[in-house]
Amino acid sequence: MRRESPMKRGRELQANSVPRHRHLLNLIFMAAGLTCGVPLLLSAASGLATSTAAASSVSENGSGSNPSMTDALGVHFIDGSSSSLIIERNGKKYLVDLARHAIRETAGPEVSAQTHSGGSLAAAAASSGDTRLGAKIFMEKCSVCHGANGKGITAAGTPDFTSAQVQATLTEDAVINTIKHGKKGTLMPSWEGKLSENEIAAVGSFVKLLASTNASDQQIAASAARETAKVYTPADDYLYSLPTGRRLERHGLYVNFTHRFVFDPAFSGRARGAILAGLDGFSVASFGLRYGVTDKFSVSAYRSPSVIGRPVELMAAYNFLDEHDGNPLNASFRFSVDGQDNFSKNFTTNFEGIFSRTLSRRAQIYFVPALSLQARRLTVSSALELEPPDLPGINTFSLGVGAALDIRPTVAVIAEVIPTLVNGPELGIHRPAYAFGIQKRLWRHAFTLGFSNSPGTVVSQRAGTRAAFLGDPSADKGSGLFIGFDLMRQMY
Ligand code: HEC
Repeated sequence: MRRESPMKRGRELQANSVPRHRHLLNLIFMAAGLTCGVPLLLSAASGLATSTAAASSVSENGSGSNPSMTDALGVHFIDGSSSSLIIERNGKKYLVDLARHAIRETAGPEVSAQTHSGGSLAAAAASSGDTRLGAKIFMEKCSVCHGANGKGITAAGTPDFTSAQVQATLTEDAVINTIKHGKKGTLMPSWEGKLSENEIAAVGSFVKLLASTNASDQQIAASAARETAKVYTPADDYLYSLPTGRRLERHGLYVNFTHRFVFDPAFSGRARGAILAGLDGFSVASFGLRYGVTDKFSVSAYRSPSVIGRPVELMAAYNFLDEHDGNPLNASFRFSVDGQDNFSKNFTTNFEGIFSRTLSRRAQIYFVPALSLQARRLTVSSALELEPPDLPGINTFSLGVGAALDIRPTVAVIAEVIPTLVNGPELGIHRPAYAFGIQKRLWRHAFTLGFSNSPGTVVSQRAGTRAAFLGDPSADKGSGLFIGFDLMRQMY
Protein backbone atom coordinates (compact mmCIF):
# COMPACT_ATOMS: atom_id res chain seq x y z
CA MET A 1 0.00 0.00 0.00
CA ARG A 2 1.07 3.60 -0.51
CA ARG A 3 0.90 4.79 3.03
CA GLU A 4 4.61 5.67 3.30
CA SER A 5 4.62 7.41 -0.01
CA PRO A 6 3.74 11.11 0.46
CA MET A 7 7.39 11.95 1.09
CA LYS A 8 8.62 9.79 -1.67
CA ARG A 9 5.98 11.14 -4.01
CA GLY A 10 6.99 14.62 -3.01
CA ARG A 11 10.48 13.97 -4.21
CA GLU A 12 9.18 12.41 -7.38
CA LEU A 13 6.91 15.30 -8.20
CA GLN A 14 9.65 17.75 -7.44
CA ALA A 15 11.91 16.04 -9.90
CA ASN A 16 8.94 16.50 -12.19
CA SER A 17 10.50 14.37 -14.88
CA VAL A 18 7.85 11.78 -13.90
CA PRO A 19 10.14 8.78 -13.74
CA ARG A 20 8.80 5.76 -15.49
CA HIS A 21 9.09 3.63 -12.38
CA ARG A 22 6.37 5.72 -10.78
CA HIS A 23 3.80 4.28 -13.12
CA LEU A 24 5.03 0.85 -12.27
CA LEU A 25 4.90 1.67 -8.55
CA ASN A 26 1.36 2.90 -8.94
CA LEU A 27 0.32 -0.35 -10.50
CA ILE A 28 2.08 -2.34 -7.81
CA PHE A 29 0.35 -0.35 -5.10
CA MET A 30 -2.96 -0.80 -6.83
CA ALA A 31 -2.35 -4.51 -6.96
CA ALA A 32 -1.28 -4.49 -3.31
CA GLY A 33 -4.44 -2.61 -2.42
CA LEU A 34 -6.58 -5.05 -4.29
CA THR A 35 -4.79 -7.98 -2.73
CA CYS A 36 -5.90 -6.86 0.72
CA GLY A 37 -8.95 -8.97 -0.01
CA VAL A 38 -7.05 -11.89 -1.41
CA PRO A 39 -6.07 -13.71 1.82
CA LEU A 40 -9.76 -13.77 2.68
CA LEU A 41 -10.66 -15.08 -0.74
CA LEU A 42 -7.87 -17.62 -0.65
CA SER A 43 -8.88 -18.98 2.70
CA ALA A 44 -12.50 -18.93 1.57
CA ALA A 45 -11.43 -20.92 -1.45
CA SER A 46 -9.57 -23.44 0.67
CA GLY A 47 -12.64 -23.62 2.91
CA LEU A 48 -14.63 -24.37 -0.19
CA ALA A 49 -12.19 -27.04 -1.26
CA THR A 50 -12.27 -28.81 2.07
CA SER A 51 -15.97 -28.52 2.57
CA THR A 52 -16.69 -29.88 -0.88
CA ALA A 53 -14.36 -32.73 -0.10
CA ALA A 54 -16.30 -33.46 3.06
CA ALA A 55 -19.59 -33.15 1.27
CA SER A 56 -18.58 -35.52 -1.49
CA SER A 57 -17.49 -38.14 1.01
CA VAL A 58 -20.88 -37.87 2.62
CA SER A 59 -22.70 -38.34 -0.62
CA GLU A 60 -20.42 -41.20 -1.60
CA ASN A 61 -21.27 -42.80 1.68
CA GLY A 62 -24.93 -41.91 1.34
CA SER A 63 -25.21 -43.32 -2.16
CA GLY A 64 -23.95 -46.60 -0.83
CA SER A 65 -20.91 -46.81 -3.07
CA ASN A 66 -18.63 -47.55 -0.15
CA PRO A 67 -20.52 -47.53 3.10
CA SER A 68 -18.51 -50.39 4.53
CA MET A 69 -15.43 -48.34 5.22
CA THR A 70 -17.10 -45.56 7.21
CA ASP A 71 -19.33 -48.11 8.97
CA ALA A 72 -16.45 -50.38 9.83
CA LEU A 73 -14.46 -47.47 11.16
CA GLY A 74 -17.45 -45.86 12.83
CA VAL A 75 -16.79 -42.53 11.12
CA HIS A 76 -19.58 -40.07 10.32
CA PHE A 77 -18.93 -36.96 8.29
CA ILE A 78 -20.94 -33.88 9.17
CA ASP A 79 -22.65 -31.95 6.41
CA GLY A 80 -21.20 -28.51 6.00
CA SER A 81 -18.41 -28.82 8.56
CA SER A 82 -14.89 -28.82 7.29
CA SER A 83 -13.26 -29.27 10.66
CA SER A 84 -15.36 -31.71 12.69
CA LEU A 85 -16.41 -35.32 12.36
CA ILE A 86 -18.05 -37.95 14.53
CA ILE A 87 -16.40 -41.25 15.50
CA GLU A 88 -18.43 -44.10 16.99
CA ARG A 89 -16.82 -46.47 19.51
CA ASN A 90 -18.58 -49.02 21.71
CA GLY A 91 -21.98 -47.50 21.04
CA LYS A 92 -20.86 -44.02 22.04
CA LYS A 93 -20.34 -41.11 19.68
CA TYR A 94 -17.47 -38.69 19.91
CA LEU A 95 -17.17 -35.36 18.18
CA VAL A 96 -13.64 -34.79 16.89
CA ASP A 97 -12.85 -31.15 16.36
CA LEU A 98 -9.78 -31.05 14.15
CA ALA A 99 -9.34 -27.29 14.31
CA ARG A 100 -9.24 -27.29 18.10
CA HIS A 101 -7.66 -30.70 18.63
CA ALA A 102 -10.55 -31.55 20.93
CA ILE A 103 -12.72 -34.64 21.36
CA ARG A 104 -15.90 -34.89 23.36
CA GLU A 105 -18.88 -37.20 23.63
CA THR A 106 -21.88 -36.18 21.57
CA ALA A 107 -25.42 -37.34 21.00
CA GLY A 108 -24.76 -37.78 17.29
CA PRO A 109 -26.80 -36.64 14.34
CA GLU A 110 -29.57 -39.23 14.54
CA VAL A 111 -30.97 -38.10 17.85
CA SER A 112 -30.19 -34.45 17.30
CA ALA A 113 -33.67 -33.16 16.71
CA GLN A 114 -34.93 -34.49 20.02
CA THR A 115 -31.90 -33.65 22.10
CA HIS A 116 -31.34 -30.14 20.95
CA SER A 117 -34.51 -28.60 19.60
CA GLY A 118 -35.88 -26.00 21.93
CA GLY A 119 -32.88 -26.59 24.18
CA SER A 120 -32.73 -24.60 27.36
CA LEU A 121 -30.65 -21.84 25.82
CA ALA A 122 -32.96 -21.33 22.90
CA ALA A 123 -36.02 -21.48 25.10
CA ALA A 124 -34.50 -19.03 27.51
CA ALA A 125 -33.64 -16.66 24.70
CA ALA A 126 -37.09 -16.87 23.22
CA SER A 127 -38.69 -16.10 26.53
CA SER A 128 -36.25 -13.45 27.66
CA GLY A 129 -36.68 -11.41 24.49
CA ASP A 130 -32.96 -11.57 23.66
CA THR A 131 -33.82 -13.14 20.34
CA ARG A 132 -34.05 -9.78 18.66
CA LEU A 133 -30.65 -8.79 19.95
CA GLY A 134 -29.27 -12.14 18.81
CA ALA A 135 -30.84 -11.79 15.37
CA LYS A 136 -29.57 -8.25 15.07
CA ILE A 137 -26.01 -9.25 15.89
CA PHE A 138 -26.24 -12.24 13.58
CA MET A 139 -27.36 -9.99 10.69
CA GLU A 140 -24.72 -7.35 11.40
CA LYS A 141 -21.71 -9.50 12.19
CA CYS A 142 -22.25 -13.08 11.12
CA SER A 143 -24.44 -13.11 8.02
CA VAL A 144 -21.58 -12.08 5.68
CA CYS A 145 -20.10 -15.54 6.22
CA HIS A 146 -23.02 -17.59 7.55
CA GLY A 147 -25.75 -16.26 5.25
CA ALA A 148 -28.71 -14.13 6.35
CA ASN A 149 -30.74 -17.30 6.94
CA GLY A 150 -27.89 -19.14 8.69
CA LYS A 151 -27.83 -21.78 5.98
CA GLY A 152 -24.15 -21.20 5.33
CA ILE A 153 -22.27 -19.93 2.29
CA THR A 154 -20.34 -22.52 0.35
CA ALA A 155 -17.61 -20.11 -0.71
CA ALA A 156 -16.99 -19.12 2.93
CA GLY A 157 -16.97 -22.76 4.09
CA THR A 158 -19.66 -22.19 6.70
CA PRO A 159 -21.98 -24.93 7.96
CA ASP A 160 -25.76 -24.94 7.62
CA PHE A 161 -26.98 -23.99 11.10
CA THR A 162 -30.53 -24.89 10.17
CA SER A 163 -29.58 -28.53 9.67
CA ALA A 164 -30.34 -30.65 12.71
CA GLN A 165 -27.29 -32.74 11.86
CA VAL A 166 -24.96 -29.79 12.17
CA GLN A 167 -26.61 -28.52 15.30
CA ALA A 168 -26.26 -31.93 16.94
CA THR A 169 -22.54 -31.35 16.94
CA LEU A 170 -22.93 -27.95 18.53
CA THR A 171 -23.67 -27.97 22.22
CA GLU A 172 -24.53 -24.66 23.83
CA ASP A 173 -21.10 -24.53 25.38
CA ALA A 174 -19.40 -25.28 22.08
CA VAL A 175 -21.32 -22.53 20.29
CA ILE A 176 -20.48 -19.94 22.94
CA ASN A 177 -16.89 -21.11 23.03
CA THR A 178 -16.53 -20.86 19.25
CA ILE A 179 -18.05 -17.39 19.16
CA LYS A 180 -15.73 -16.22 21.92
CA HIS A 181 -12.52 -17.71 20.65
CA GLY A 182 -13.11 -18.31 16.96
CA LYS A 183 -11.79 -21.42 15.25
CA LYS A 184 -8.11 -21.54 14.49
CA GLY A 185 -7.28 -22.58 10.98
CA THR A 186 -10.65 -21.42 9.65
CA LEU A 187 -12.12 -18.03 8.80
CA MET A 188 -14.24 -18.06 11.97
CA PRO A 189 -12.98 -15.05 13.96
CA SER A 190 -12.91 -14.52 17.72
CA TRP A 191 -15.56 -12.14 19.05
CA GLU A 192 -14.35 -11.79 22.60
CA GLY A 193 -13.89 -8.09 23.34
CA LYS A 194 -15.83 -7.18 20.19
CA LEU A 195 -19.13 -8.37 21.61
CA SER A 196 -20.16 -8.25 25.27
CA GLU A 197 -20.88 -11.47 27.23
CA ASN A 198 -24.53 -10.65 26.94
CA GLU A 199 -24.34 -10.20 23.17
CA ILE A 200 -22.37 -13.42 22.76
CA ALA A 201 -25.01 -15.28 24.74
CA ALA A 202 -27.78 -13.70 22.66
CA VAL A 203 -26.24 -14.52 19.29
CA GLY A 204 -25.34 -18.00 20.57
CA SER A 205 -28.99 -18.65 21.42
CA PHE A 206 -29.99 -17.31 18.06
CA VAL A 207 -27.68 -19.82 16.34
CA LYS A 208 -29.30 -22.62 18.37
CA LEU A 209 -32.76 -21.28 17.58
CA LEU A 210 -32.10 -21.46 13.84
CA ALA A 211 -32.31 -25.27 13.88
CA SER A 212 -35.15 -25.57 16.32
CA THR A 213 -37.83 -28.03 15.29
CA ASN A 214 -40.29 -26.19 17.43
CA ALA A 215 -42.50 -24.21 15.03
CA SER A 216 -42.97 -21.23 17.32
CA ASP A 217 -39.23 -20.96 17.99
CA GLN A 218 -38.66 -21.00 14.26
CA GLN A 219 -41.19 -18.28 13.76
CA ILE A 220 -39.54 -16.14 16.40
CA ALA A 221 -36.16 -16.58 14.75
CA ALA A 222 -37.53 -15.91 11.27
CA SER A 223 -39.44 -12.78 12.23
CA ALA A 224 -36.52 -11.39 14.25
CA ALA A 225 -34.28 -12.02 11.25
CA ARG A 226 -36.77 -10.38 8.88
CA GLU A 227 -36.99 -7.29 11.06
CA THR A 228 -33.25 -6.72 11.22
CA ALA A 229 -32.63 -7.67 7.59
CA LYS A 230 -34.76 -4.68 6.59
CA VAL A 231 -32.05 -2.28 7.65
CA TYR A 232 -29.34 -1.26 5.17
CA THR A 233 -25.80 -1.62 6.48
CA PRO A 234 -23.22 0.56 4.69
CA ALA A 235 -20.11 -1.29 3.51
CA ASP A 236 -17.68 1.55 4.25
CA ASP A 237 -17.17 4.68 6.37
CA TYR A 238 -17.53 6.61 3.12
CA LEU A 239 -19.86 6.55 0.16
CA TYR A 240 -17.09 8.08 -1.93
CA SER A 241 -15.99 11.24 -0.11
CA LEU A 242 -19.16 11.73 1.94
CA PRO A 243 -19.25 9.91 5.28
CA THR A 244 -21.92 7.25 5.81
CA GLY A 245 -21.98 7.74 9.60
CA ARG A 246 -22.02 3.97 10.10
CA ARG A 247 -21.20 2.65 13.52
CA LEU A 248 -17.79 1.18 14.12
CA GLU A 249 -17.09 -1.91 16.14
CA ARG A 250 -16.07 -1.28 19.74
CA HIS A 251 -12.24 -1.33 19.80
CA GLY A 252 -12.20 -1.85 16.05
CA LEU A 253 -9.32 -0.23 14.13
CA TYR A 254 -10.01 0.88 10.59
CA VAL A 255 -7.81 2.11 7.78
CA ASN A 256 -9.21 4.44 5.14
CA PHE A 257 -7.16 4.98 2.06
CA THR A 258 -8.27 7.16 -0.84
CA HIS A 259 -6.79 7.94 -4.23
CA ARG A 260 -7.97 10.69 -6.55
CA PHE A 261 -6.27 10.80 -9.96
CA VAL A 262 -7.13 14.43 -10.46
CA PHE A 263 -4.51 15.29 -13.07
CA ASP A 264 -5.82 12.99 -15.82
CA PRO A 265 -9.44 13.41 -16.87
CA ALA A 266 -10.82 9.94 -17.48
CA PHE A 267 -12.96 10.56 -20.53
CA SER A 268 -11.50 13.43 -22.52
CA GLY A 269 -8.37 14.14 -24.48
CA ARG A 270 -6.40 11.28 -25.96
CA ALA A 271 -7.76 7.77 -25.80
CA ARG A 272 -7.44 6.75 -22.16
CA GLY A 273 -7.19 3.00 -22.48
CA ALA A 274 -3.40 2.99 -22.45
CA ILE A 275 -3.28 4.79 -19.11
CA LEU A 276 -6.21 2.89 -17.58
CA ALA A 277 -8.49 5.96 -17.67
CA GLY A 278 -5.96 7.83 -15.52
CA LEU A 279 -5.32 5.07 -12.98
CA ASP A 280 -1.62 4.95 -13.72
CA GLY A 281 -1.28 8.72 -13.37
CA PHE A 282 -0.34 10.85 -10.41
CA SER A 283 -2.86 10.79 -7.58
CA VAL A 284 -3.83 12.65 -4.44
CA ALA A 285 -3.53 9.78 -1.98
CA SER A 286 -4.86 10.27 1.54
CA PHE A 287 -4.61 7.95 4.46
CA GLY A 288 -6.34 7.74 7.81
CA LEU A 289 -6.98 5.58 10.83
CA ARG A 290 -10.25 5.36 12.76
CA TYR A 291 -10.75 3.75 16.11
CA GLY A 292 -14.03 2.73 17.72
CA VAL A 293 -13.70 3.75 21.37
CA THR A 294 -17.18 2.35 21.91
CA ASP A 295 -19.57 1.16 19.22
CA LYS A 296 -21.00 4.70 19.12
CA PHE A 297 -18.02 6.95 19.73
CA SER A 298 -15.01 6.96 17.41
CA VAL A 299 -11.91 9.05 16.83
CA SER A 300 -9.81 9.38 13.71
CA ALA A 301 -6.75 10.99 12.21
CA TYR A 302 -6.42 11.52 8.50
CA ARG A 303 -3.86 13.09 6.22
CA SER A 304 -3.85 14.29 2.63
CA PRO A 305 -0.65 14.88 0.68
CA SER A 306 1.50 17.93 0.03
CA VAL A 307 0.05 18.55 -3.40
CA ILE A 308 -3.22 19.58 -1.69
CA GLY A 309 -1.71 21.47 1.28
CA ARG A 310 -0.85 18.43 3.45
CA PRO A 311 -3.74 18.85 5.88
CA VAL A 312 -3.97 16.64 8.94
CA GLU A 313 -7.52 16.19 10.17
CA LEU A 314 -8.37 15.09 13.71
CA MET A 315 -11.92 14.04 14.37
CA ALA A 316 -14.35 12.73 16.95
CA ALA A 317 -17.66 11.21 15.87
CA TYR A 318 -20.70 10.08 17.78
CA ASN A 319 -23.45 7.90 16.38
CA PHE A 320 -26.54 8.70 18.43
CA LEU A 321 -29.34 7.04 16.48
CA ASP A 322 -29.13 3.82 14.52
CA GLU A 323 -31.80 2.00 12.55
CA HIS A 324 -30.32 -1.29 13.76
CA ASP A 325 -31.66 -0.32 17.20
CA GLY A 326 -35.16 0.23 15.85
CA ASN A 327 -34.79 4.01 15.39
CA PRO A 328 -36.49 5.60 12.35
CA LEU A 329 -33.17 6.93 11.02
CA ASN A 330 -29.42 6.92 11.57
CA ALA A 331 -27.88 10.09 12.93
CA SER A 332 -24.27 10.91 13.71
CA PHE A 333 -22.42 14.03 14.60
CA ARG A 334 -18.78 14.68 13.72
CA PHE A 335 -16.49 17.38 14.96
CA SER A 336 -13.12 17.89 13.34
CA VAL A 337 -10.25 20.29 13.09
CA ASP A 338 -7.83 20.21 10.21
CA GLY A 339 -4.62 22.14 9.83
CA GLN A 340 -2.55 22.42 6.68
CA ASP A 341 1.18 21.81 6.53
CA ASN A 342 0.85 18.90 8.97
CA PHE A 343 -1.43 20.66 11.43
CA SER A 344 0.62 23.81 11.69
CA LYS A 345 -1.37 26.51 9.82
CA ASN A 346 -4.64 27.37 8.03
CA PHE A 347 -6.81 25.63 10.62
CA THR A 348 -10.42 24.84 9.79
CA THR A 349 -13.06 23.70 12.29
CA ASN A 350 -15.84 21.50 10.97
CA PHE A 351 -19.23 20.49 12.36
CA GLU A 352 -21.13 17.81 10.48
CA GLY A 353 -24.40 16.02 10.89
CA ILE A 354 -24.87 12.73 9.06
CA PHE A 355 -28.45 11.58 8.61
CA SER A 356 -29.37 8.51 6.68
CA ARG A 357 -32.34 6.30 6.20
CA THR A 358 -32.93 2.88 4.73
CA LEU A 359 -35.18 3.09 1.67
CA SER A 360 -35.41 -0.64 1.22
CA ARG A 361 -33.31 -3.52 2.42
CA ARG A 362 -31.02 -2.70 -0.51
CA ALA A 363 -30.89 1.10 -0.59
CA GLN A 364 -30.07 3.99 1.66
CA ILE A 365 -30.02 7.79 1.30
CA TYR A 366 -27.69 10.20 3.10
CA PHE A 367 -27.80 13.88 4.05
CA VAL A 368 -24.66 15.51 5.34
CA PRO A 369 -24.90 19.19 6.31
CA ALA A 370 -21.43 20.53 7.09
CA LEU A 371 -20.30 23.84 8.51
CA SER A 372 -16.62 24.67 7.99
CA LEU A 373 -15.22 27.67 9.82
CA GLN A 374 -12.23 29.30 8.15
CA ALA A 375 -12.01 26.96 5.15
CA ARG A 376 -9.34 27.65 2.54
CA ARG A 377 -9.60 27.67 -1.25
CA LEU A 378 -8.24 24.49 -2.82
CA THR A 379 -4.96 25.08 -4.58
CA VAL A 380 -2.43 22.77 -6.09
CA SER A 381 1.13 23.06 -4.83
CA SER A 382 3.62 22.35 -7.51
CA ALA A 383 6.69 22.87 -5.35
CA LEU A 384 6.09 20.31 -2.68
CA GLU A 385 8.71 21.42 -0.21
CA LEU A 386 7.05 24.84 0.10
CA GLU A 387 4.48 25.71 2.75
CA PRO A 388 0.89 25.96 1.55
CA PRO A 389 0.08 29.64 0.86
CA ASP A 390 -1.53 31.85 3.54
CA LEU A 391 -5.04 32.17 2.18
CA PRO A 392 -7.89 33.92 3.97
CA GLY A 393 -10.22 31.67 5.97
CA ILE A 394 -13.84 31.68 4.81
CA ASN A 395 -16.84 30.28 6.65
CA THR A 396 -18.84 27.96 4.45
CA PHE A 397 -21.76 25.59 4.57
CA SER A 398 -22.35 22.63 2.29
CA LEU A 399 -25.09 20.04 2.09
CA GLY A 400 -23.98 16.64 0.87
CA VAL A 401 -26.64 14.28 -0.49
CA GLY A 402 -25.89 10.71 -1.44
CA ALA A 403 -27.37 7.30 -2.06
CA ALA A 404 -26.28 3.67 -2.17
CA LEU A 405 -28.13 0.90 -3.94
CA ASP A 406 -27.11 -2.75 -3.69
CA ILE A 407 -27.27 -4.31 -7.13
CA ARG A 408 -25.93 -7.62 -5.81
CA PRO A 409 -25.60 -8.85 -2.23
CA THR A 410 -22.04 -7.49 -2.00
CA VAL A 411 -22.01 -4.82 -4.71
CA ALA A 412 -23.56 -1.36 -4.50
CA VAL A 413 -23.69 1.59 -6.86
CA ILE A 414 -23.14 4.87 -5.05
CA ALA A 415 -23.63 8.53 -5.96
CA GLU A 416 -23.21 11.81 -4.12
CA VAL A 417 -23.33 15.54 -4.71
CA ILE A 418 -21.95 18.18 -2.34
CA PRO A 419 -23.21 21.68 -3.22
CA THR A 420 -21.65 24.54 -1.25
CA LEU A 421 -24.60 26.70 -0.23
CA VAL A 422 -22.76 29.51 1.52
CA ASN A 423 -19.65 31.28 0.18
CA GLY A 424 -18.95 28.79 -2.63
CA PRO A 425 -17.68 31.45 -5.11
CA GLU A 426 -15.33 32.87 -2.46
CA LEU A 427 -13.68 29.45 -2.37
CA GLY A 428 -13.55 29.22 -6.15
CA ILE A 429 -16.40 26.65 -6.18
CA HIS A 430 -18.79 27.31 -9.07
CA ARG A 431 -20.20 23.84 -9.61
CA PRO A 432 -21.00 21.33 -6.89
CA ALA A 433 -18.58 18.50 -6.26
CA TYR A 434 -20.11 15.18 -7.26
CA ALA A 435 -19.15 11.54 -7.63
CA PHE A 436 -20.55 8.17 -8.62
CA GLY A 437 -19.07 4.73 -8.44
CA ILE A 438 -19.33 1.10 -7.56
CA GLN A 439 -18.62 -0.35 -4.12
CA LYS A 440 -17.68 -3.93 -3.32
CA ARG A 441 -18.08 -5.24 0.19
CA LEU A 442 -16.04 -8.05 1.69
CA TRP A 443 -15.84 -9.07 5.29
CA ARG A 444 -14.12 -6.12 7.01
CA HIS A 445 -13.15 -4.66 3.65
CA ALA A 446 -14.63 -2.36 1.11
CA PHE A 447 -13.35 -1.21 -2.25
CA THR A 448 -14.97 1.67 -4.13
CA LEU A 449 -14.06 2.68 -7.66
CA GLY A 450 -15.53 5.95 -8.83
CA PHE A 451 -15.46 9.09 -10.90
CA SER A 452 -15.63 12.58 -9.46
CA ASN A 453 -14.72 16.20 -10.00
CA SER A 454 -13.29 16.74 -6.50
CA PRO A 455 -9.75 15.91 -5.43
CA GLY A 456 -10.37 16.64 -1.73
CA THR A 457 -11.31 14.03 0.86
CA VAL A 458 -10.95 15.87 4.20
CA VAL A 459 -14.15 17.58 5.34
CA SER A 460 -13.06 21.14 4.52
CA GLN A 461 -11.75 20.19 1.07
CA ARG A 462 -14.26 17.67 -0.26
CA ALA A 463 -16.72 20.29 -1.55
CA GLY A 464 -13.99 21.94 -3.62
CA THR A 465 -13.63 20.97 -7.25
CA ARG A 466 -10.96 20.35 -9.79
CA ALA A 467 -11.58 23.82 -11.29
CA ALA A 468 -10.53 25.57 -8.09
CA PHE A 469 -7.72 23.12 -7.52
CA LEU A 470 -6.13 23.51 -10.95
CA GLY A 471 -7.12 27.17 -11.35
CA ASP A 472 -8.93 26.30 -14.57
CA PRO A 473 -12.63 27.32 -14.56
CA SER A 474 -13.58 24.65 -17.12
CA ALA A 475 -11.83 21.79 -15.34
CA ASP A 476 -14.87 20.61 -13.36
CA LYS A 477 -17.15 20.08 -16.37
CA GLY A 478 -18.27 16.54 -17.12
CA SER A 479 -15.30 16.09 -19.44
CA GLY A 480 -13.00 16.76 -16.49
CA LEU A 481 -14.27 13.83 -14.41
CA PHE A 482 -11.44 11.71 -13.14
CA ILE A 483 -11.08 8.27 -11.66
CA GLY A 484 -10.32 7.39 -8.05
CA PHE A 485 -10.79 4.71 -5.46
CA ASP A 486 -11.30 4.16 -1.73
CA LEU A 487 -10.04 1.22 0.26
CA MET A 488 -11.34 0.48 3.73
CA ARG A 489 -9.97 -2.26 5.88
CA GLN A 490 -10.86 -3.12 9.42
CA MET A 491 -7.56 -4.32 10.90
CA TYR A 492 -8.91 -5.51 14.27
C1 HEC B 1 -15.24 -14.25 8.25
C2 HEC B 1 -16.27 -15.24 8.20
C3 HEC B 1 -17.06 -15.54 9.46
C4 HEC B 1 -17.73 -14.67 10.28
C5 HEC B 1 -17.84 -13.15 10.15
C6 HEC B 1 -18.39 -15.49 11.28
N1 HEC B 1 -18.10 -16.81 11.08
FE1 HEC B 1 -18.72 -18.36 12.25
N2 HEC B 1 -17.70 -19.66 11.05
C7 HEC B 1 -16.99 -19.32 9.93
C8 HEC B 1 -16.47 -20.54 9.32
C9 HEC B 1 -15.65 -20.59 8.05
C10 HEC B 1 -16.90 -21.62 10.12
C11 HEC B 1 -16.66 -23.10 9.87
C12 HEC B 1 -15.44 -23.56 10.56
C13 HEC B 1 -15.28 -25.04 10.30
O1 HEC B 1 -14.75 -25.34 9.24
O2 HEC B 1 -15.70 -25.80 11.15
C14 HEC B 1 -17.66 -21.02 11.20
C15 HEC B 1 -18.24 -21.75 12.22
C16 HEC B 1 -19.06 -21.24 13.18
C17 HEC B 1 -19.70 -22.03 14.20
C18 HEC B 1 -19.62 -23.52 14.34
C19 HEC B 1 -18.28 -23.91 14.85
C20 HEC B 1 -18.12 -25.39 15.03
O3 HEC B 1 -17.64 -25.74 16.09
O4 HEC B 1 -18.43 -26.15 14.10
C21 HEC B 1 -20.44 -21.17 14.97
C22 HEC B 1 -21.31 -21.51 16.14
C23 HEC B 1 -20.26 -19.86 14.41
N3 HEC B 1 -19.41 -19.92 13.34
C24 HEC B 1 -20.90 -18.72 14.87
C25 HEC B 1 -20.66 -17.45 14.37
C26 HEC B 1 -21.28 -16.26 14.89
C27 HEC B 1 -22.32 -16.23 16.01
C28 HEC B 1 -20.80 -15.21 14.18
C29 HEC B 1 -21.12 -13.73 14.35
C30 HEC B 1 -20.95 -13.17 15.66
C31 HEC B 1 -19.89 -15.74 13.19
N4 HEC B 1 -19.83 -17.10 13.34
C32 HEC B 1 -19.19 -14.97 12.27
C33 HEC B 1 -16.79 -18.06 9.43
C34 HEC B 1 -17.29 -16.89 9.98
